[in-house]
Formats: sequence, structure tokens, C-alpha cells
Amino acid sequence: MKLLTSLIALVGFTSAQLIIQGTDSLSEPDYCDTTTLSCHWTGSVDACCSPKYGLVVLALQWMPGFGPNDEFTIHGLWPDTCSGRMAPGRGCDNSRNTNQIASIVRNMNSTMYGRMNTFWPSNKGDNNWFWSHEWTKHGTCVSTLRPTCYGPTYKKYQDVIEYFEQVLDLRDRFDLFGALNLNGVSPGRHYNVETIRDAIKSTYGANVKLDCHGNQLSEISLNFYVRGRDKYEITNVQRAGNCRGAVYYPKK
Ligand SMILES: *[C@@H]1O[C@H](CO)[C@@H](O)[C@H](O)[C@H]1NC(C)=O
Repeated sequence: MKLLTSLIALVGFTSAQLIIQGTDSLSEPDYCDTTTLSCHWTGSVDACCSPKYGLVVLALQWMPGFGPNDEFTIHGLWPDTCSGRMAPGRGCDNSRNTNQIASIVRNMNSTMYGRMNTFWPSNKGDNNWFWSHEWTKHGTCVSTLRPTCYGPTYKKYQDVIEYFEQVLDLRDRFDLFGALNLNGVSPGRHYNVETIRDAIKSTYGANVKLDCHGNQLSEISLNFYVRGRDKYEITNVQRAGNCRGAVYYPKK
């Protein structure tokens, strides 16, 4: 039965793509097994169906002076190897490098551009540079977003838009300020590093990485495996980060 279904799926590939065309949802190649969990592969798996760099880091920043007072902002979404090593430092596909992410996103979707300005500010004042760097170094390493994965319906920059939408959506889903606040951790005081870690663990069920500048909280990173192409499932981080002892959580 499974074989028959796959055969029908293969035969139906072209017409299914036509149906998918025109929606902005992920056009999952329909030969993919959507239950596959990254880094838990058995046998070979198409890199269009499951991200090759399957342990993904979402790094969120706490920077006084940047972003809303009650929101963490985005540093980036970084595909790592399953053993927690970085993907290639210069990115994974230099044919898609760009230094024009701001105008690409603004032209494709001005709502998304607005969200990025609010939730993904650069602390050096140049958002375009920051976003372009993140795309070139990390976004091009998301194997499921390769243009060839979309087949003939690929539209220029669809991969770029999907990457940034994914990062924005993950930040919304993991409301770190809210999780801390719910557990009595609010800006303007010192907390033991384990109190901060436990507050997030009790909300989201996984250990996070806590990084500090001096004794001041500056960044929280979450790790994910990915089910299918784009269902992010949180998992424990492999490194605790550099915060120690009493950590100051500054007011923005
Ligand atoms: C534009 O971006 C917004 C916010 O990221 C998103 O909700 C919306 O679906 C996008 N619109 C289109 C047409 O893709």
C-alpha cells in the first residue's frame, strides 16, 4: 500500500506542484516523508526534505536600546551539524550571496520588512548589512531552501523570504521575555544563572544557552531539530554558555 501511494505520489508530482503554485506556504516536495526528524535519519534522506545541517540554533539577543522593551530581538538562525559544529563559515552556496536583503524583502513583502526592522535590529545601525550577512553565512546553509528543491515553480527570492519568515515566526513562538516574566524573572535585577535557565526550561521544556557580556545577560540560544522541512522541535542545547553565578538582567 505504501509503495502504491508513493507511485501515485510520483506520478502526481507535476500536477500537485501546479496546485501548490500561488500559495505562500512551503511547497513541500510531495515525495518527502514529513515525519522525518533531522539528525535522526535512518538511511539516506533527500536534503530537500530534511535539513542537512539538522541541529538548528535560534540566537535571541537582549540589547538595551534596541527593539521593544519587552521583547528579545533576533541575532540569527544557524544550521549546525548534528554534533553541534558550525556549518561552513562562508556560507553554503555563494551563488545566492547578496548584500541587498533589505531591498529584496521590502520589495517582496513590506509587512515582513517592518517586522524585521522591529525584531531584528542591528546594534551597529546597519540592518541591511546584518541581515545580508546572516543570509549569506547561515540562510544559504538551509538545504531544504535550495532553489532546486522547489522544482519548476521556484520564484526568485522565495528561499530568502521563507528563511526570514521562519526566523520571525520562531521568535514569536518562543517568547523569552514572557517565559521569564511568568516565572518571576524581570529586568532590573540580578538572578542566579540557573534561575534564568530553569524559568525558560519550565516554559519550553529544554535547556537553553545563556551568554553574558561581563555579568550582564546578552543572548539566549535555543536548539531545534526539524521535523520534515519546517516543523521546529526544541531540544536541549549542548553548551551552557558563558554566564556564571549572579547575572544582571538589565532594563531596556
Ligand atoms: C508577508 O509577511 C507577513 C509577515 O511576516 C506574513 O504574515 C504574510 O503572510 C506575508 N504575505 C505574503 C503575501 O506572503
